[in-house]
Amino acid sequence: MAHQILVLNGPNLNLLGAREPEIYGSDTLDDIVAELSALARNRNTEIRHLQSNHEGALIDALHDARGWADAVIFNPGAFTHYSIALRDAIVASELPVVETHLSNVHAREEFRHHSVVSAVCLGVVLGFGKRSYVAALDAVIHHLDA
Ligand code: DQA
Repeated sequence: MAHQILVLNGPNLNLLGAREPEIYGSDTLDDIVAELSALARNRNTEIRHLQSNHEGALIDALHDARGWADAVIFNPGAFTHYSIALRDAIVASELPVVETHLSNVHAREEFRHHSVVSAVCLGVVLGFGKRSYVAALDAVIHHLDA
């Protein structure tokens, strides 16, 4: 495989499909990962997925990714808005990370308008539901190919 990409999802995203479907859509996380894996395979890319509700597990996954991944697609969930530890772990990973959100956080509550991780990410995709992940995958493969 040409590229190895970690798809990393943070807290509460295990409940996708059941949790606030009017905001996050009806697809489950398994549906999204299955679609990404199929798209990636066609692009000669392998995806590994991890979801955790625990900040430390997400930090460990970013550290571990240093050893094998070429890039990370990361939806940190609510940690986006306050976890300096995750921001530092993104920097420590030395990998291109695409911050990805299902919802348009800027159209929601004010506390969601600020991301502490955006400035250390390669780019940000948000507001397109499952398609945010698809767009992030396409963009990061283009980045790795370039
Ligand atoms: C989210 C947006 C966050 O504000 C929220 O806490 C989430 C999901 C999104 O994908 O839209 O858990 O990251």
